[in-house]
Amino acid sequence: MPKGRTRNMPIDHAAVADLDRVDRRLPLVDPFGRAITYLRVSVTDRCDFRCVYCMAENMAFLPKAEVLSLEELDRLCSAFVACGTRKLRLTGGEPLVRRGIMTLFDSLSRHLRSGDLDELTLTTNGSQLAKYAKEIKSCGVQRINVSLDTLDAEKFGTITRWGSLDQVLAGIDAALAAGLEVKINAVALKGVNDDEFPRLIEWAHGRGMALTLIEVMPLGEIGEGRLDQYLPLSIVRARLAERYQLDDLDYRSGGPARYVRVAETGGRIGFITPLTHNFCESCNRVRVTCTGTLYMCLGQEDAADLRKPLRASEANDVLFAAIDEAISRKPKGHDFIIDRRHRRPALARHMSVTGG
Ligand SMILES: C[S@@+](CC[C@H](N)C(=O)[O-])C[C@H]1O[C@@H](n2cnc3c(N)ncnc32)[C@H](O)[C@@H]1O
Ligand code: SF4
Repeated sequence: MPKGRTRNMPIDHAAVADLDRVDRRLPLVDPFGRAITYLRVSVTDRCDFRCVYCMAENMAFLPKAEVLSLEELDRLCSAFVACGTRKLRLTGGEPLVRRGIMTLFDSLSRHLRSGDLDELTLTTNGSQLAKYAKEIKSCGVQRINVSLDTLDAEKFGTITRWGSLDQVLAGIDAALAAGLEVKINAVALKGVNDDEFPRLIEWAHGRGMALTLIEVMPLGEIGEGRLDQYLPLSIVRARLAERYQLDDLDYRSGGPARYVRVAETGGRIGFITPLTHNFCESCNRVRVTCTGTLYMCLGQEDAADLRKPLRASEANDVLFAAIDEAISRKPKGHDFIIDRRHRRPALARHMSVTGG
């Protein structure tokens, strides 16, 4: 066990090793011919921050019994790997505040070594990276996403409510020092960080990190006017184009981002625009929550319960059948709207449930 490893809830490797003996199954293909090769897993709904666009300050979190154990998460992820998942992203809530999370990384890394998985990765707020970066790298993780909306300590406090900018910056330093490729994700917030994008771009690109800007999505009741936060990235891009030469890139991450190269910095900017651009036609992903609920689309309510089949039997037949059935219901696309008349979120669940 690597130094510093939390020993809480260690994974029973003998129990999960069974899955390695499961014959590869046919890859998952949805009714629209899209191969489902990317799974995002929210390993906890809890977080040490309370970002204003993501959570209300007083969030009610799930009771432990409803949350999948680390062993169950391993079994679920491994079942997807057997069904052709090539990329696995752990997210949350904040994945690195889940107790014993490194045992899950460590255990899942066997799929990288066997060649069944191309990428194991992470989206984090960075608060725990100083502690875990080396260990994460040693589990075969190459690239991570760190969410950071501002470089101004006071604004950072206002946006995250409970976060410390210095701690996150130290975490990013540790990740880079450990040899991890870091991508910064920033949510564009009208009147909050929209004057700061050049600074963020130059800071990120100066350190060899790509920057992705994300439009606020109408997920979950957060107790504040979402309309007041919404800033279309088409406007951001037009403003940036007055200052920089932005060259379109063909590069696609298999996700909803469009990329440009900034001629002046040599770095890359991604724009994730779920509200102003329809990215569904190339969707290759599904999301599972920490309770084992599978969402076939980030922007739709339809879901499948995988916890029941997971707990029903130690064999995976029932689980595989539930996964197949769910994928056969994957919708063609989402219908996000910022509801201007009712000022209500388009979907009731928070981003911290599905993990973004
Ligand atoms: C839900 S967080 C989970 C992982 C981790 N806690 C973090 O912040 O990176 C994943 C991403 O979703 C983004 N996010 C949260 N709520 C959002 C919303 N309503 N609209 C757009 N992005 C959102 C966050 O900024 C973050 O980049
Ligand atoms: S965006 Fe991430 S860090 Fe912020 S509250 Fe949501 S889960 Fe926590």
